[in-house]
Amino acid sequence: QSILFVTSEIADYIKAGGLGEVSAALPRALRQHYDVRILIPGYRQVLSQIGAIEEIARLPASFGIPGCGLGRGLTRDGLTVYVLLCPELYERDGSPYVDAFGRDWSDNDIRFARLGLAAADIACGGGDPLWRADLLHLNDWPSGLAAAYLTWRGQHIPTILTIHNLAYQGIFDRDRLPCLGIPDDAFNINGVEFHGKLSFLKAGIFYSSHITTVSATYAQEITRPEFGCGLDGLLRTRAHQGRLDGIINGIDPSWDPSKDPYLVSRFSAENFRGKRANANNVRKSFGLAFSNGPLFAVVSRLVHQKGVDLAISAAETIVSQGGQIAVIGQGEARFEAELRALAERHPGSVGVRIGYDEGAARRMYAGSDFLLMPSRFEPCGLSQMYAQRFGSLPIAHKTGGLADTIEDGVNGFLFGEPCLYRFMDAIKRGLETFRSRSRLSAMRKAAMQRPHGWESSASKYRKVYERACHTAACN
Ligand code: ADP
Ligand code: GLC
Repeated sequence: QSILFVTSEIADYIKAGGLGEVSAALPRALRQHYDVRILIPGYRQVLSQIGAIEEIARLPASFGIPGCGLGRGLTRDGLTVYVLLCPELYERDGSPYVDAFGRDWSDNDIRFARLGLAAADIACGGGDPLWRADLLHLNDWPSGLAAAYLTWRGQHIPTILTIHNLAYQGIFDRDRLPCLGIPDDAFNINGVEFHGKLSFLKAGIFYSSHITTVSATYAQEITRPEFGCGLDGLLRTRAHQGRLDGIINGIDPSWDPSKDPYLVSRFSAENFRGKRANANNVRKSFGLAFSNGPLFAVVSRLVHQKGVDLAISAAETIVSQGGQIAVIGQGEARFEAELRALAERHPGSVGVRIGYDEGAARRMYAGSDFLLMPSRFEPCGLSQMYAQRFGSLPIAHKTGGLADTIEDGVNGFLFGEPCLYRFMDAIKRGLETFRSRSRLSAMRKAAMQRPHGWESSASKYRKVYERACHTAACN
């Protein structure tokens, strides 16, 4: 069977968050069972890193969506990647979604409609003359329109949409419909409309055969108004129809503290003495004083979702109890400024680096004793799993994937409400554990040994694929 995995980022070449990592790992976990191929826009970072690309077709312009070349290349380990060759849409400096100032690219509707339309074309054999897809696996709003285009053309290829984050929806003005080739009669509640606007994510949810999201708890949460971002009604319907599942992400096996080339000293669940050298390295590189006290890490996008404000408030108490904090992140300017001010108030105890640096992040997971992750909501979360794998105990809000990957008091700490009071309570339990060497070691070991791989999740995706293909064949 052949599967087209459609994504707007893949860690091999370009990554804005967890989606990029999942897009790199999940197709690889499935490739022994399927002919899985990836479709991605030809961003500058893709073209400069992928190596040889052969242009195998021209995709025609359609409505206001420009025509483009379809390239075919291979990842270093031989996965086929289809790349959309459209310099005017994709060859820019910056992230897949925003410019250097953090503003959405003004033509994001066209850029990702181009992606959705190409996915529909390739799936039906209108791209690679030698290949078509039995199933389309879409990810988040940027690929959502693919399911809609297939439906409007009367093509019944099963489509799975994975929601990595319901909070990003791809909302545009209604007057964009004609230029995106969206029929007027699709602009209603049973279609692409969301409160008088066009929503790419709603389109994906409405027209896909099956929806998955990245944890079982988040799959339930998004059917409730508090987490549903206005789409909980439709998601409740899909859940009742048996068309919504939660499948937890895994992490890449290369995140292994006994082999990681970024670490200054390697270690394992059997012997984690090497953590100390990593801790001292983190202290040094973040300008923290030498200490035997607990070291807390924050590795995060700096946005409201992640509860950065709660971490900043908790920092004062952590420091007053002899703890140190190292923060790496980037995001909203107000959080960046508040974090810089926090570090200035507590020299030697709080170190902040604004930016994105994977090597530094890995050393922080390896060197820290605790990871602060007070996310208000968290569809899955990968950071807490990396922390566990590297023997740092996550202290996290009991929501979404955090609730499903952390066992309170066993391999991390959970708190029930995203408020400072409950968060501090969990931090205090962490500090108590830190004072008991034997408990700390037992929890670290449990965290490091927790199974983090993709195997069991990949087999759940296979069941979803089989069901979707079966249903499509029966219709
Ligand atoms: P999200 O996708 O919502 O940002 P996840 O926890 O799923 O959250 O994934 C975040 C990924 O990005 C993790 O691999 C984490 O280590 C990494 N990350 C986040 N911020 C930084 C940063 N400033 N530097 C390096 N890595 C980061
Ligand atoms: C999103 C979510 C995060 C999840 C990631 C990968 O970025 O915010 O929780 O881990 O997607 O699925």
